[in-house]
Amino acid sequence: MTITPHSSAPDSVHASAAGSLLLGGDLPLSRMGFGAMKLPARDWDGPACDPVQSVAVLRRAVELGVDHIDTAWFYFHEDVSANGLIREALHPYRDGLVIATKVGPGRNPDGSWQDPAGPAEVRAAVHRNLRELGVDRLDLVYLRRMPSQKSIAEVFAALAELREEGLVRHLGVSNVDAAQLAEAEAVAPVAAVQNRFSVLEHSAQDAALLADCTARGIAFVPFFPLGGSGVPADPALQRVADRHGATRAQVMVAWLLAVSPSILAIPGTSSPAHLEENVAAASLRLGAEDLAELAASAGA
Ligand SMILES: NC(=O)c1ccc[n+]([C@@H]2O[C@H](COP(=O)([O-])OP(=O)(O)OC[C@H]3O[C@@H](n4cnc5c(N)ncnc54)[C@H](OP(=O)(O)O)[C@@H]3O)[C@@H](O)[C@H]2O)c1
Repeated sequence: MTITPHSSAPDSVHASAAGSLLLGGDLPLSRMGFGAMKLPARDWDGPACDPVQSVAVLRRAVELGVDHIDTAWFYFHEDVSANGLIREALHPYRDGLVIATKVGPGRNPDGSWQDPAGPAEVRAAVHRNLRELGVDRLDLVYLRRMPSQKSIAEVFAALAELREEGLVRHLGVSNVDAAQLAEAEAVAPVAAVQNRFSVLEHSAQDAALLADCTARGIAFVPFFPLGGSGVPADPALQRVADRHGATRAQVMVAWLLAVSPSILAIPGTSSPAHLEENVAAASLRLGAEDLAELAASAGA
């Protein structure tokens, strides 16, 4: 993975201000992406979002320079899926738009969860993602480990076979520890790790994993970058935001971009205003005083 530094702040809001990295050695990506999980509904059980607005948010994200959208076949509510919204909004996809998706969890049409996928289900899930997104090859597919799975070698090997068959360009793992990452890497190259990580919520184990990924050129993609369900009302976040004339959400995104050049940010929103706000954080630069204050708050 080759990293280019942040570009100088643009006059207008644009994802490219976050700088870029080369995913898996051949896919250039802006470090400011978008998470599509909450486009069908605000939570797994609803309420539903307005699909017309969700489509508009996706189109606006791409207009703002976002070239990395994170999704999964199991992000759906009733008959509206994130994959379906992405296809409706953006297909045929413009060159350079990277859609990252996931396999692993099983989900019934009524939304209830199944046991984690085995090799056959992983294969079926890749084909479902291909069909739903309307592509011949998926750019990046994560194996999303479920808590009951201690070893991921067998299912990751099934995903690696699909890569060998040309259906997947790059592989990732999600919700893993260092041993599970090593297990996957023994099977096939891992281009990205997607774990829960934000300025206020990250374990020492995930901080070490981020450092390892950074050192070895593996992209690290934090999920719940804004806390997952509403931006926390943290006093230190607010103080830093006030110093910059920014919002707490923007500080959370800017912290991720500052903390490692290997991080790809994927804040999620179904709100056009929040989208603009989040992408504008691509040009927000935090200083040493900001980072120290946030570190003290996270450790408090
Ligand atoms: N691998 C995994 O296991 C996993 C798990 C969870 C998520 N993910 C991925 O990570 C992405 C990001 O996570 P997420 O979307 O769940 O959580 P998030 O990005 O941490 O936060 C999204 C929440 O924050 C709100 N929000 C967004 N921008 C805001 C702003 N500027 N001001 C105030 N509130 C704001 C959103 O509401 P509004 O819609 O009202 O803006 C939404 O409720 C997902 O979309 C998904 O692609 C992966």
